[in-house]
Amino acid sequence: MNTVKDRIVRYAKALNIMAIIARVFVIVGMVVTVLQMIATFSLNTPFMADFYDGGIEQIESILGRSALFQVLHDIADLSAMDPVYQKAIELFITLLSLLVLLLYIIFFQKLIGHIIKAQQPFSHESARRMTSGSWWLLLPVLINPVLGLALFMIMRFFAVIFEYGAYLQDQADETSRIQEEVIVSLAEITENKSEQTGQHIRRVSEYSRILARQLGYSPEAARNLRLASTMHDLGKLMIPSEILDKPGKLTDEEFAVIKKHPVYGEHLLHNVEGETMALARLVALEHHERYDGKGYPEGKQGEAISLDGRIVAVADVYDALTSRRSYKTAWDPKDAYDEIVKGSGTQFDARVVDAFKTAYDEIDATRRKYADDKPAA
Ligand SMILES: [Fe+2]
Ligand SMILES: [Fe+2]
Repeated sequence: MNTVKDRIVRYAKALNIMAIIARVFVIVGMVVTVLQMIATFSLNTPFMADFYDGGIEQIESILGRSALFQVLHDIADLSAMDPVYQKAIELFITLLSLLVLLLYIIFFQKLIGHIIKAQQPFSHESARRMTSGSWWLLLPVLINPVLGLALFMIMRFFAVIFEYGAYLQDQADETSRIQEEVIVSLAEITENKSEQTGQHIRRVSEYSRILARQLGYSPEAARNLRLASTMHDLGKLMIPSEILDKPGKLTDEEFAVIKKHPVYGEHLLHNVEGETMALARLVALEHHERYDGKGYPEGKQGEAISLDGRIVAVADVYDALTSRRSYKTAWDPKDAYDEIVKGSGTQFDARVVDAFKTAYDEIDATRRKYADDKPAA
């Protein structure tokens, strides 16, 4: 669906360039017509007479003799008129036709501009603009009835298609809104269950989005990772509260239980379908893997860990370091930064750490924005 949308926006951009070129041509045509009108009244000048004769033939060959002109011709019996006035009227009608064409191009560009700006062809606004604009397309009926009606019908047809597209888009938005609400609820449940009170999940997901953007993800893909990463600790729901909430250091056995939360998280999300859920599953499973292969649960190494997993790993550790936990105080952000940089190429993917360094101001601002409102228990 997104690639189709991208393609439509790309075509819209190409059409916009063509419309700009067409606009220049029409404006030049209008200027030439005005010059020719001046020339018709200066026929006694040989140069002007030549200019006039050549020009009118060219324009007539492009636009055809208009039906309106023919009607006027019949009513007023233009043939009996002074040829100079006859030609002047003909040129005036040509000028009007070009003006109408210019207005069409402007209308068309506004429509396309709307699609490019919204990055979204299927909106009710596009459909509305097409429907109201279609009435103007009836104007060529005066010049050519078949052409006018055809343009009108084509525009109406596209307006209906776009209206339907907008309806489908609404449905899709509604589905992803519901999905997002479910995801946020799941994340909140995890947050309440684990000792990570405050805003750990929100911060990790925002850091992940920032890192993803820095690494070249599209805004949509980065938003998707933000949402998926909110569920990275979902598996903690399966860990006994006595272990999760235990103050002080954990025993090796207890830590072994905690280390199962990535696999539990993956299992909990196993039967849920959808792009975001698939990503959430991956991130839940991989967020404690290390680039050097010394992480858990599978000890995956390097590129075997998905880039999404490598991103959330950095986001999660940075937040764990800068947050207060029952067994430790919050690190100074500068020390946490140094710790992340120190882990480049060993604990973390060096590319992700580079992105972390570049985007650090934004990450730091996010940390302050979503600071814990209450200290961890
Ligand atoms: Fe975790
Ligand atoms: Fe976490």
